[in-house]
Amino acid sequence: MARILVYDIPTRLFHWLLAIGFMSALGIAQFADEHGGLFPYHTIIGLVLGMMLILRIVWGLIGTRYARFGSFLFGPSAVIGYFKGVLAGNGRRYVGHNPGSSYAILAMLAMTLVVVASGMLMSAGGEAMEEVHSVSSYVLLALVAVHLAGVLVHTIRHRENISASIVTGTKEGESGDAINSAKPLTAIAFMLLTALWAGGLIRNYNSHTQQTMLPLLGVTVELSESEHEEAGHGRSYQRHEDDD
Ligand code: HEM
Ligand code: HEM
Repeated sequence: MARILVYDIPTRLFHWLLAIGFMSALGIAQFADEHGGLFPYHTIIGLVLGMMLILRIVWGLIGTRYARFGSFLFGPSAVIGYFKGVLAGNGRRYVGHNPGSSYAILAMLAMTLVVVASGMLMSAGGEAMEEVHSVSSYVLLALVAVHLAGVLVHTIRHRENISASIVTGTKEGESGDAINSAKPLTAIAFMLLTALWAGGLIRNYNSHTQQTMLPLLGVTVELSESEHEEAGHGRSYQRHEDDD
């Protein structure tokens, strides 16, 4: 066995930006004042994660072997076999995702989608979405805890520093299981699109109205609970007329 490439650069960049972005959005929601200067960045970070997620979904269809969603789909017997192996302290090692981590990953990606979509619907005035937004955020946090427990179990069971694989992209394996490119050009395109989207959201941010506009789409998004809502005079989807 040798060190072989399994995770391309776009997947690794997505992973760490998602991890940092999720923790930051959650941290701001927990600890920052909802009407303070930091809260709008909660929403901007969330909208950036939304864009990254769309790009990750595309990559899940056309990307390299272990980034494609096809490599995440295991049948029930593989999942049962995997958990039996964990309990018994044996069982096979997978070069890509194992059946347990595959479903945890799919659940984390799906839940990120629910968190972002409910955030957007909520800021467009859907009050019922507030509950969905808050509950889905904590479900996602719980899934992250399961994910990290899985990483720990794998690290101990196979005496392998698996965390390093999502940094360096490599694992121990047979050369036939390797992907043949780290896809640096796709990584540059991913970073460029994400940065342009984030830059556009920050450029369009108006601290007076507490709104921003989605680049290219021209859709206005409320970045925090509007004062109308606080005063009970209306809901946050009221259009703010330009008064200057
Ligand atoms: C220090 C913290 C973390 C470590 C060490 C870590 C480690 C890893 C590893 C080793 C993998 C590859 C799993 C496999 O081979 O099956 C992975 C994948 C993944 N992790 Fe994490 N993780 C961390 C934090 C997070 C957080 C906070 C999130 C979510 C908010 C997250 C979401 C994911 C996702 C979605 C994948 C799949 C990547 C993809 O294919 O796009 N991770 N992580
Ligand atoms: C991964 C991304 C995100 C996470 C983890 C997250 C998490 C949270 C959490 C935990 C709260 C506090 C809920 C409560 O205690 O009631 C919150 C509030 C809020 N979020 Fe997010 N959120 C994310 C993305 C978004 C997005 C994309 C938007 C809008 C486009 C958004 C808009 C808001 C607003 C306006 C509030 C204040 C709600 C209120 O209490 O009135 N969030 N978010």
